Amino acid sequence: MASRSLHLTIALLLAALCLPALHAQIPTAAPPLILGTAWYPEQWPESRWDSDLDLMQKAGIHMVRVGEFAWSRMEPTDGHYDLDWLDRAIAAAGRHGIYTVIGTPSAAPPAWLTQKYPETLRTLQDGRKDQHGNRQQFDWSDPKYRELSRAMAEQLAKRFGHNPWVMGWQIDNEYANASFGDATKAQFQDWLKARYGTLDNLNARWTTAYWSETYQSWDQIPIETHGGNPGLLLSWMRFVSDTWRSYQKNQLDVIRGNSDPRQFITTNMMGWFDGYDHYTVSQDLDMASWDDYVGEGQLDRYRNGAAHDLTRGFLRKNFWVMETQPGFVNWARINNSLDKGEVRAMAWHDIGHGADAVSYWQWRSALNGQEEYHGTLVGPDGTPVPLYSEIAQLGAELTKAAPTLAGTSVYSDVAILHSYDSRWAINWQRHNANFDPVNQIVSYYKPLRDIAQSIDIVNPLAPLSQYKLVVAPGLNVLSDAEAQHLIDYVQQGGNLVLGQRSGMKNIDNGLQSERQPGPLVQLLGGRVEQYYPLTAPIPVSGDWGTGTSAEWAELLSTKAPDAKVLMRYGASNGWLDDQPAAITRKIGKGSITYIGAWLDDASLEKAAQWMTSMSGVTPEFGPVPAGVDVYPRESAHTQVFILVNFSKSPETVALPSAMHDVLEGVIGSSTTTVTLPVYGVAVLSRPR
Ligand code: GAL
Repeated sequence: MASRSLHLTIALLLAALCLPALHAQIPTAAPPLILGTAWYPEQWPESRWDSDLDLMQKAGIHMVRVGEFAWSRMEPTDGHYDLDWLDRAIAAAGRHGIYTVIGTPSAAPPAWLTQKYPETLRTLQDGRKDQHGNRQQFDWSDPKYRELSRAMAEQLAKRFGHNPWVMGWQIDNEYANASFGDATKAQFQDWLKARYGTLDNLNARWTTAYWSETYQSWDQIPIETHGGNPGLLLSWMRFVSDTWRSYQKNQLDVIRGNSDPRQFITTNMMGWFDGYDHYTVSQDLDMASWDDYVGEGQLDRYRNGAAHDLTRGFLRKNFWVMETQPGFVNWARINNSLDKGEVRAMAWHDIGHGADAVSYWQWRSALNGQEEYHGTLVGPDGTPVPLYSEIAQLGAELTKAAPTLAGTSVYSDVAILHSYDSRWAINWQRHNANFDPVNQIVSYYKPLRDIAQSIDIVNPLAPLSQYKLVVAPGLNVLSDAEAQHLIDYVQQGGNLVLGQRSGMKNIDNGLQSERQPGPLVQLLGGRVEQYYPLTAPIPVSGDWGTGTSAEWAELLSTKAPDAKVLMRYGASNGWLDDQPAAITRKIGKGSITYIGAWLDDASLEKAAQWMTSMSGVTPEFGPVPAGVDVYPRESAHTQVFILVNFSKSPETVALPSAMHDVLEGVIGSSTTTVTLPVYGVAVLSRPR
């Protein structure tokens, strides 16, 4: 007996000595470029974890995001938390050199919670309550839900806020659904009261004399999401945005109060999604991140690239791709796979646009659940799918390129201005069903990016002095502060180009009392006399050659003698015939231009050439063959150019100077050309 217990004691002692050794690899700083994946340890027996983590490690994966839907495992019954399994999962990942990002699980409340506190379920617009069985069924404005989700986040932060393997936090998952119950409506009415002060003020600013909408008490004001008074519609979306911000802050504060400053806090946003104002919501975060899915078809590098630049613009710094598709999704009409090589090419395109992490959703599909068909990196049997080897190649490349890309970010001479107010305002009253405000932005983005090779997309109040050229394709809602900011920019020598529907609305989504572009008319020395939605393209010609305007045409006029007509409409509806379609005016060293036509691609390309040359924008890298993207990133010491070939044939690119070929490991070489196969990638660098 004695000897058995002695053995036991020795065994325990040894285990105690060894255990720290197993946990011990105290992590050095996380790598500057990260390959990651979404991992759901709660869905698998613990005995399986090590094999998964081993396969991840072999692929060069350095980060797992965990937990964002695991509330029922973390708090199986009200107030009884179980985080031991998560602790073990984080430690297991750490033993494989893999860091963890913890998602707070509030996008998927457990059944006991919504059953016990039914007020936490969101109310749909038709008044019915949502139910358990999917996700995002919670009411983001409900105080009880906030209390419970904060308590959950607090438990997580207290337990893992100082864990060296935890890099950061994702709050919730893809904020999306508002709630429309009476309690939310009362909050909205209070919000209006705080913003407008008096009903007289609100009634005047919304012109409620129209259709007898006049409000005599705050509780008469309804919720409308389309078809209502434009001032009411815009206010509701601002309330929705502020409520997401406070919903997020409720968890963010408790995480920040209980965690190391090195752990970042983010949330995963959704590119062009416009369910809330992302500038409002991102201002409290340490870093922006988004979920980048192609869905059906292949990568549209312009629309997708612009979504990256939009996300980079939320905090005007590098961001993460928190989720992206491993080949294919399960929710598109046709869930085709990206081509062989395209997933890797897309990852480099992400990094080129300023992503410091690319993380695949998901590692392995759950054996049941709503997303059985979604792409993964290993199959349901736990062995790699064909894409795994491409990801492993990417992992090795990121490791190689990380020292060069560390500390670099994207700089641009050209900014495109974007605002949610304007997108909402146009979408509520498109006036031509084909007028899509995101398409409008991308139509300018495409030729400008081809020339400038780097574009920032920022909100109209962002600092503008660094830009040689600022293009506002559709700034429909223009506040006085924004207008003044743009006037200052031009007067200080900046070049501003406005596109269709600019400066039509005021801060309440009411019409400006001056014609478009409202407060900028004087500076422009001209204005929009009338707008005409079009059923077919009409001719335009002038300094940018001969082309067409589709969907929409604005008849411009010049008043100032020094305002110049650049383009005119040809014969069309009589009203537009021979009238100005684009005008420009020099203001000191700067200029202001208004384009009233939605130009075809070739004319817009010429317009972009004109804009960039008159503002002195010259790309660092020089011309590349069509279909090849070049993405500059730089630090104080290094310039990096990532090249990706999206054309259908191999392309040879002449380099503007000798560069290091980082992936090929050719250092200080005399490389002056690079040949890229289809979906080929090169990472080139030179000292500054
Ligand atoms: C995202 C979501 C993930 C997963 C993925 C599938 O929108 O955050 O949880 O559902 O889509 O494509």
